[in-house]
Amino acid sequence: MGSFSLLSAVARRLEGKVALITGGASGIGEATARLFCQHGAKVVIADIQKDLAHSVCKDIGPTSASFVHCNVTDEPHIENAINTTVAKYGKLDIMFNNAGIVESAKSDILENDKAEFERVMGVNVTGAFLGTKHAARVMIPARSGSIITTASVCSINGGGATHSYTCSKHAVVGLTKNTAVELGRFGIRVNCVSPYLVATPLVKNFFNIDDDEAASVYSNLKGVVLKPEYVAEAVLYLGSDDSMYVSGHNLVVDGGYTIVNPAFCMFDQSK
Ligand SMILES: NC(=O)c1ccc[n+]([C@@H]2O[C@H](COP(=O)([O-])OP(=O)(O)OC[C@H]3O[C@@H](n4cnc5c(N)ncnc54)[C@H](O)[C@@H]3O)[C@@H](O)[C@H]2O)c1
Repeated sequence: MGSFSLLSAVARRLEGKVALITGGASGIGEATARLFCQHGAKVVIADIQKDLAHSVCKDIGPTSASFVHCNVTDEPHIENAINTTVAKYGKLDIMFNNAGIVESAKSDILENDKAEFERVMGVNVTGAFLGTKHAARVMIPARSGSIITTASVCSINGGGATHSYTCSKHAVVGLTKNTAVELGRFGIRVNCVSPYLVATPLVKNFFNIDDDEAASVYSNLKGVVLKPEYVAEAVLYLGSDDSMYVSGHNLVVDGGYTIVNPAFCMFDQSK
């Protein structure tokens, strides 16, 4: 069986759905855009990297994927991205607030720069807030929709990243829970996904490490290296009707990293 017939034999889980993905030009967002389109969705990528986003859309195919320039910290940009999506496809079924950044360097609290702290919070938290707000604006009249935000294992554990990044990822879980309560009465589900380290440009630049190191050094689950595509599968689940009754949830994709205290592993060195 050729690859096309294999693909068509797999159920397309987003047939007829329309999705907007922020930060869809690279990494987890790009992998999700590709997977969503394979499953029959129309996807609009909202990003600040124009050339990269255009090449991703071209590669996916212009009938399935398109690009809108959008800085998620800028409310008119988000508003425009949502309105452009609805004007083009008539609705918005899935909003994926995925754009995120980390500080350029890890620093102690005494050296932490306020402007840098606010820059990270601006993209990671305000961006998710604006995306949720304007998605809700068009989903409420439709009485349905799925809003997903990319959090992180840093939404659960401390010490894994900078103060701003850890704060921002804790904050989006709060935003998810609060909006899941409010929007539930309109049939809108709100969730987030929390990946462990994935070797995307964001991680490789920050930790200055290569692909293998990025994904395996501290991982709990051996023999598997976390890839953007595996996170995309979790987002597909939350975006599709397979998660019909799942709301207010933080879906952790970390191979067990956040449940382990590595100090306990000292007691069983044979494994
Ligand atoms: N890579 C990891 O290990 C990891 C782990 C947990 C969570 N995350 C989160 O996953 C999300 C995606 O990150 P990634 O690892 O794929 O990184 P990435 O750098 O590959 O992709 C991030 C994308 O967001 C876009 N972006 C940045 N600022 C933006 C803005 N102001 N407006 C619009 N777009 C903007 C970038 O242009 C880029 O395309 C982020 O929220 C990140 O915090 C990543």
